Order: sequence, then C-alpha cells, then structure tokens
Amino acid sequence: MLAGAALAANAVSSSAEDAPVKRIRTGLIGCGSVSNQYLPQLKNSPFVEVVSLCDIRPERAKAQAERYDVAHHYPHIEAMLAGEAFDLLVDTTDMQEHEKINRRAIESGKHVWSEKPIANTLAAGQELLRVALEKNVRLWGAPITVQSPQFAFMARQLAAGKLGRVAAAHADYGHEGPDWSAFFYEKGGGSMPDLAVYNLTSLTGLLGPARSVSAMVSIVTPERTVSDKGRIDVTEEDNAMVLMNHGNGVISHVQSGFNFFNPNGHDGSAETRHTISIVGSAGFMGMVGYDWEPLGVDLATKDSPKLERHVTESEGYLWQQGAVLAAECLSTGRELLVTPEHALHVLEIITAARESSATGKHVALTSTFKWPIVS
Ligand SMILES: NC(=O)c1ccc[n+]([C@@H]2O[C@H](COP(=O)([O-])OP(=O)(O)OC[C@H]3O[C@@H](n4cnc5c(N)ncnc54)[C@H](O)[C@@H]3O)[C@@H](O)[C@H]2O)c1
Repeated sequence: MLAGAALAANAVSSSAEDAPVKRIRTGLIGCGSVSNQYLPQLKNSPFVEVVSLCDIRPERAKAQAERYDVAHHYPHIEAMLAGEAFDLLVDTTDMQEHEKINRRAIESGKHVWSEKPIANTLAAGQELLRVALEKNVRLWGAPITVQSPQFAFMARQLAAGKLGRVAAAHADYGHEGPDWSAFFYEKGGGSMPDLAVYNLTSLTGLLGPARSVSAMVSIVTPERTVSDKGRIDVTEEDNAMVLMNHGNGVISHVQSGFNFFNPNGHDGSAETRHTISIVGSAGFMGMVGYDWEPLGVDLATKDSPKLERHVTESEGYLWQQGAVLAAECLSTGRELLVTPEHALHVLEIITAARESSATGKHVALTSTFKWPIVS
C-alpha cells in the first residue's frame, strides 16, 4: 500500500505538470488537545486551505488561529457556517458534540471529517449518512488504523491464507485516562468510544464485520479530577472486555480502558509489544506497537516457523492525517480505505457491548461494511 504522505507528494508533482492541485477550503471546529495534532497536518497539506477555526471557548479559537496562521475564527458553529465559505468541516470537538455538529454541517452542504464517534448511536449515524447522500456530500470518521501499511500487510497475509484456518485474535489498548476534559467520563463518553474504537476498527477490518458481541464493562475509578471541571463522577465505562463473533468460527477479543498503567508510557514509538495478535491453524501474526502507530508485523507460519519482522516503516502513514486524506479524496478522487459504514459498525459494537454487559446476553448486530479491506 502507498501511504498518504507518499501519495500526496506524488500527486503534487504529477499534477503540477497538468493542472494546479485543488485545495479544499477547510474549517476546523474544536480547538483543544487534538487540534494540535490535526492543524500541523492540515497546514502542510497541498490539498488543504485552512480558512477558519471555531471553538465555544473563543479564546482557544483565537489562540490557535494566531498559532497556525488561520485568517478567521468563530465562537459558534452557526457563526462559522455564516462566515468565511468552506467545503470540508473537521470536527474535533467533545465526543458528545459530534452528532449535532456533523448533522448541522451536512445539512449546510459541507463534507465532514469527524473525530470518533461520528454519532452517538447507530441509528443517528445512519441518518447522518442518509442526509449526506441526499446532499451529495461525504462523511468520514476516525480512526484510520486501516490505512497503515502494517494493517495492509496483515490483511494480505489473511487473504492469502498464510495463517491457515483463522481461529482467534486479541487486541489491547489503554492508558491512565485523559486528565484535561470531563467529557471522556460523562454520558456519551467512555473508554470504548475513545480507546477500544482503535482495536475494534482494526480487528473488524482484518477479520470481517462482527455478527454478535458479548462483553463485560465496568467502572474502576468512580471519581476523577480533570482540568476543566475539577472533581467529577465517572458515569461511563472505564474498563471493557469485548468478545466478537466474526462468523466461520473466528472469535476475537478486545481489552481496553482508562486504568491501564503501561511501563512503556503512551508514546507510540516506545510500545514494542504485540498489541494485536491473530492465530490460526498454520500461523501466528503480531502487530508490533499500537495499531494507530504500528512499528512492524511479526509473522511465523508452519512453512516458516521462525518469527520474522516485516513492514517496519510507516511509509508516510500518520494517525493524525485522516482529515488530510479526506481532503485529498475530495481534491483528486483517490478513495480512502476508511468508510463511514465501518465506523458505524464499530459504533454499533460499542453500544452492543454496553447492552451485553447490562443484560448478560450476547447481542446480535445488524450493521455491516464492505469487506475485505484490500489495498
Ligand atoms: N487529545 C488527543 O490526543 C486525541 C487523540 C485522538 C482523538 N481524539 C479525539 O478528539 C476529540 C477531541 O478531544 P480533545 O482531547 O481534543 O478534547 P479537548 O477537550 O482538549 O478539546 C475539545 C474542544 O472542543 C471544544 N468544543 C466542545 N463543544 C463544542 C461546540 N459545540 N462547538 C465548538 N467547540 C466545541 C471545547 O471547548 C474544546 O476546546 C475527541 O473525540 C477525542 O476522542 C483526541
């Protein structure tokens, strides 16, 4: 697979000879922590012109506009929509805000790249997608783990049958929880839409849509102190064990939460364990490092039983580049491997996991997405 930055560079040089690259006029809403990851990518992309920023804390929008040299900034989505014209909205607000902001933007004829989740329920997300189709605009959501060259390598090994009959997979991802904003712990938040979402996207991307889910979720730390609100009650899960049935006998498991001390810290480049492993009758495959910043893939098969490391380069892939890839798609027509249907399937897994934990029952899923994801 060719990664985004490599392609971006190619696209610029080849199209420079033919026609100028079309820059997508882009507005970003939500000028908090993750905007410092997105804005440098957006500002450096040949496919993007960042025209406006917005935050309900106007001082944040102003500060980021100064820092990243953006001409316009607004204190509210309505002022942003009425202000400087743009075509793509990048939504990096609180998890609880995405659904209504995404809907408002789509209704106004804007394409949307949304941080996770796109919406808070499958039904609301499907309605967003319906309106997007009606308005002839595109909707995408983070995360973009399926865009990494390591994911592509693993998908190719599975498609080639290198592991024999695939049986089981495990993925884990956690840290000690964000300490800056309360929304991560309040209704509409939780460790699954913030953290498990990466592993759920990767495992369903590799093994196929889940047919049913069985889960236990819990709250390990019922009170926390966060910068924006001080002492708060934690009302959503901060610990989750999710089992997925992918059909054909394949079962996988995700372990994720906000109480995971990690001796390697949370810097992606320092995590060298297998955080995703897949085993079958004739092989084993382990992703080295986090799926949002993989460092390689170890593979051993019956034919070649010594564990060997593959794909140790990022090939231009960066977890922060989702909105840039969306702009590239709008500019050049190059389709992403990320799809809104996949993001909504993962959202259904998250809500089903909560239901399963509350009822003690397996929960059947209704949604699906185009699979396999091949590049
Ligand atoms: N922080 C990270 O490293 C990180 C990494 C990956 C994904 N994310 C995701 O990014 C999103 C934002 O996380 P964050 O850590 O940046 O949170 P944050 O609290 O630091 O920033 C969110 C910002 O959105 C603003 N906001 C909230 N409601 C708004 C509204 N209606 N209109 C305009 N602005 C509004 C807030 O004032 C705040 O400045 C979440 O979905 C999170 O899961 C964060």
